[in-house]
Amino acid sequence: MYRTHDCGQLRISEVGNQVTLSGWVQKARDLGGMTFLDLRDRYGITQVVFNMDENADLCQEARKLGREFVVQITGTVRERSSKNPNRATGDIEVEAITLKVLNVSATPPFTIEDNTDGGDDLRMKYRYLDLRRSPVQNNIIFRSKLALESRKYLDSQGFIEVETPFLIKSTPEGARDFVVPSRMNPGEFYALPQSPQTFKQILMVAGLDKYFQIVKCFRDEDLRADRQPEFTQIDCEMSFVHIEDILNVFEGLAKHLFKHTLNIDLGEFPRMSYDEALQRYGSDKPDLRFGMEFVELNDIAKGHGFSVFDSAEMVVGICAEGIADSYSNKDIKDLTEWLQRPQIGAKGLVYVKFQADGIKSSVGKFYSDEQLQAWGNKFDAKQGDVLFILSGETEKTRKQLNELRLELGRRMGLMKAGDFKPLWVIDFPLLEWDEDAQRFFAMHHPFTSPKQADIPRMMYGDHETMKSLRADAYDLVINGVEIGGGSIRIHDRELQSKNFDLLGFSKEEAEHQFGFLLGAFEYGAPPHGGIAFGFDRLCAVLNGVNSIRDFIAFPKNNQGRDMMIDAPSTIHDVQLKELGIKIS
Ligand code: AMO
Repeated sequence: MYRTHDCGQLRISEVGNQVTLSGWVQKARDLGGMTFLDLRDRYGITQVVFNMDENADLCQEARKLGREFVVQITGTVRERSSKNPNRATGDIEVEAITLKVLNVSATPPFTIEDNTDGGDDLRMKYRYLDLRRSPVQNNIIFRSKLALESRKYLDSQGFIEVETPFLIKSTPEGARDFVVPSRMNPGEFYALPQSPQTFKQILMVAGLDKYFQIVKCFRDEDLRADRQPEFTQIDCEMSFVHIEDILNVFEGLAKHLFKHTLNIDLGEFPRMSYDEALQRYGSDKPDLRFGMEFVELNDIAKGHGFSVFDSAEMVVGICAEGIADSYSNKDIKDLTEWLQRPQIGAKGLVYVKFQADGIKSSVGKFYSDEQLQAWGNKFDAKQGDVLFILSGETEKTRKQLNELRLELGRRMGLMKAGDFKPLWVIDFPLLEWDEDAQRFFAMHHPFTSPKQADIPRMMYGDHETMKSLRADAYDLVINGVEIGGGSIRIHDRELQSKNFDLLGFSKEEAEHQFGFLLGAFEYGAPPHGGIAFGFDRLCAVLNGVNSIRDFIAFPKNNQGRDMMIDAPSTIHDVQLKELGIKIS
């Protein structure tokens, strides 16, 4: 037997008992007559002690152990004279009787402790060592629990898990596909699924009624902290449902997961239309942990000789509470420069400070104190508050002000850890017009249904009408992160063909790419809809972390590389030849 207990298990009640432990040597300390060793496994750390006076040979053996050696120790549990309250096993230690080295280890390239000295790249290269650290391990254990709780909830609601293929034809979710050449069909390629979208719809045609899958998806897109080229979704689809049914079931899933992982009751989720979200927060995924709602000032800020506002389509601002005294002119200058960086591209920032000794503003020349006070009244500003105002073209200005709102939220410490604010964003536009490409794109995906009331306008309306069509689509947002998205689907072949038509697919292209789906729709497709949660994002948000990498056992870096296995890599000419791929 390698062990009688794990390294996190022993307590004071075991004092006097003989035990056997196996694990990794985290640290060894020689203190003259004694050698102390921290023995670590997934469950914790136990202190082992070797006594020179009692067993000199064994103590000498212990002194030869290096970090990360794998050892088996048998010994007697005894109470520690100086206890460690920060460790579950901190009341006891094991006095070693035997020591067996199960395996040696090279010196690890970084310290394997909660706080490590290893940089990102090094830790990704030696991911197996990074994964030994308990903060990283805890994330992976959390992920496992979240998957289990997702399955429990969905099972309780009658969903069945169905696996769909990874070698498929491309599904148009808006990103590029990863493609796989087919050896048996030279010149032809599979695509890895960006999501199982078409398959889950076909499962509804097949009568499976309620489907789910915790599934890998692949998207060849630029990477960010919340995006990986392969990521996981809790993917779901239901038949004979309206929006309300789906929102209820998946609000239930989110509540279940928060309750059973963090013991947090989320309460009812508010809902907000896409238009309202943009108007109030400049974003379709607003962070509702703090206020700072947008207030539009066109009616009172224009027409007073300040040409920047006079020529702007939109003058809009936010009110930062209580920072008038702490935000110096230099701070505001820094903030302005931050906004003027090309990533955000604001032209300038107007401020109005309400201070004890009066109103101070960068546009004081153009507006009287009474006029600036009237602006303040629109925001319900009090003494100590600062208004920040941007102007320009509506869409751009709202986006810039959203960035400013989030940045101030961060700087002012308003995004509190442990505070969770979910939101359903609904009533998305069906189509987005791309000025450069001169064509419509589906805002969600091409299978999303327009709202029932908009179907006649979609079938018979003109070009401008198409821009105003609303979709039966929804996103779940938590703390400003898009956790999930879905829609009611088109289940009618004629409507689906019309949508493909609007999206610029010729009849032949639509048939070539989606003939199988259109064909399935001819055989009694039920009304259906669904949603997919980003599983990695959900893990990160529940833990108050931005980066999803921390919750993926073997993530890719920002260049899409797996640093551990060094992929992607070149392949042999023989392989290329076999695949029918020409070498230039
Ligand atoms: P969508 O494209 O909105 O919808 O994706 C659903 C959710 O998946 C997560 N997500 C990602 N997570 C990590 N890395 C990525 N690269 C990434 N891309 C997306 C997000 C997102 O909300 N088939 C539809 C769902 C449906 O209509 O039922 C779909 O995939 O959290």
